[in-house]
Amino acid sequence: MTEDTAMREGIEHDAEVERELSWRAKSIGLAAVDMDDAELLHSWRSDPVTAYEIGAWPRSLTAMRERIERDSADDDRDDFLVLLPDRTPIGHTALSGQNIVNGTAQVELMLAPQHRGHGHGTDALDALVDLAFGELPMHRLTAETHTDNAPALAVLARSGFVREGTSRAACLHRGRRHDLAVFSLLRPEWETLNRPRAWDA
Ligand SMILES: CC(C)(COP(=O)(O)OP(=O)(O)OC[C@H]1O[C@@H](n2cnc3c(N)ncnc32)[C@H](O)[C@@H]1OP(=O)(O)O)[C@@H](O)C(=O)NCCC(=O)NCCS
Repeated sequence: MTEDTAMREGIEHDAEVERELSWRAKSIGLAAVDMDDAELLHSWRSDPVTAYEIGAWPRSLTAMRERIERDSADDDRDDFLVLLPDRTPIGHTALSGQNIVNGTAQVELMLAPQHRGHGHGTDALDALVDLAFGELPMHRLTAETHTDNAPALAVLARSGFVREGTSRAACLHRGRRHDLAVFSLLRPEWETLNRPRAWDA
């Protein structure tokens, strides 16, 4: 085990203690992000490739703590850690930019690299979508990802999101401009999805 891995697992272990789930689904749970999660989120987001994938450049731990404090006071977003059934935290997801009048919000999702490729991404997004349509009066959810982000494109499609178009040259990575794919999922489309809802788990 490398020092990095040991440190990450130590952080994960600390973050596991007595965490209450805000939302349960089939294979994952969602727990509201707390100030104690700053180190964990910071460790996940410090990698420049992950920063590119989620569109947020790594910042200091202090900035992360301030961000969590600000976001928790913000009525227009809900931030969650994604947890395995044994309460291991594996990623972050959020419903941001919530506009209750229009029923619109954006979805955000990031898994720690070692937890990708096991289907957790789709399960986490399905859980967030069920929360947005099943508990909140949302009508339209949107998501953006790079047009070359194959896992994210696959997860969004599996969760029922429809590609609306492309924001051309919308971001910079490794000296080159990249396009963003824009997706949405509407309530009537969610209603026709043939899968159990989070609350059926
Ligand atoms: C996007 C992300 C959440 C996906 O989570 P995940 O748990 O790895 O995804 P899943 O295991 O559910 O896989 C979903 C699909 O992607 C496919 N996939 C995974 N890695 C892939 C790759 N490198 N190339 C092509 N397809 C890939 C899987 O085969 C699966 O497809 P299928 O459902 O048709 O079999 C995760 O990769 C991640 O956190 N990436 C960094 C942050 C990010 O890009 N966020 C998205 C912004 S919207």
